[in-house]
Amino acid sequence: KKSTIVLGIETSCDETAAAVIADGHRMLSNVISSQMDVHRRFGGVVPEVASRRHVERITDIIQEALDQADVTLDDLSAVAVTQGPGLVGALLIGVSAAKALSFSRGLPLVGVHHIAGHIYAAHLVKPLKFPLVALVVSGGHTELIYMPEHNRFERLGRTRDDAAGEAFDKVARVLGLPYPGGPEIDRLAQKASPVIDYPRAWLEPDSLDFSFSGLKSAVINDLHNRKQRGESWEPAEIAASFQASVVEVLVEKAMRAVKKTGVSHLVLAGGVSANQGLRQALTARCEQEGIEIYIPPLQLCTDNAAMIAAAGTYKYLEGRFSGFDMNAEPNMPL
Ligand code: KG4
Ligand code: ZN
Repeated sequence: KKSTIVLGIETSCDETAAAVIADGHRMLSNVISSQMDVHRRFGGVVPEVASRRHVERITDIIQEALDQADVTLDDLSAVAVTQGPGLVGALLIGVSAAKALSFSRGLPLVGVHHIAGHIYAAHLVKPLKFPLVALVVSGGHTELIYMPEHNRFERLGRTRDDAAGEAFDKVARVLGLPYPGGPEIDRLAQKASPVIDYPRAWLEPDSLDFSFSGLKSAVINDLHNRKQRGESWEPAEIAASFQASVVEVLVEKAMRAVKKTGVSHLVLAGGVSANQGLRQALTARCEQEGIEIYIPPLQLCTDNAAMIAAAGTYKYLEGRFSGFDMNAEPNMPL
């Protein structure tokens, strides 16, 4: 049987990425061009700058992904692209590139949800087993998702305000750490104990939703008060205490979601799943409870196109193609 070869394209935020995946899980190439250096001096992603960068890079990145995979456009079964959610101008670059390839080569076009992509990153390492629960934590999302089978998603909970990664980035900013702050806080947190008791937002007793803005404000107020009292502080202790609060809530709610749905497989996905504290705590807890955990390696946790091609392959196999009227959807529902 001929293998299914899918080109994936991802431009939803600040990475211009293309990848080629065979049979939904074999990674033939995974090319990522990060714009981090461009945005760092602004302390965050500047949408207009991101779009321009994507335009400049996209053609070369796609060619490189094909070259590294040692395939040509004629070998492809389909083109998969992140359709949303994300920055509309950034998404449009990938969507336009995918449409152009699809049109000129008669290739099926598959629009992929960015979060679905993050979950399928785990599939590139070990085949996903269903039903499963996925905890997706990134700069834009904090969600608990139930998947009864390939390509079927039911949301169990989500953040009501800030995403976990957003809270990491904002706290890092007030600590004077460079953007993106998540990895910086993670690194600092390893050097101290969580001695400060910051709040944990559990919400209603049966809620699987999250809230991180109260915690973020608590840390900012704490620093402000210390400054006014002329007290100094240990940045590593602030980082460790903040991170401990985020991790405890994420782990506890993920385990509640697992119990509620009765699944025995849990996927950790999204940029924040690179966090060492979260990986360790969730792995330990799953071991205790006899749950099989799937955590993608670091380079597949943050935005990439391999995960988009993987998720796109299963939509392709179900014949769920998009037409040329497909548009970027900045608020696409899962
Ligand atoms: O998935 P991603 O690359 O982009 C989005 O779709 O948002 O996630 C980026 C987010 C940023 O907020 C970044 O600070 C956070 O993931 N992040 C981390 C770590 N590495 C990246 N947060 C905590 N600890 C880390 N090690
Ligand atoms: Zn992402």
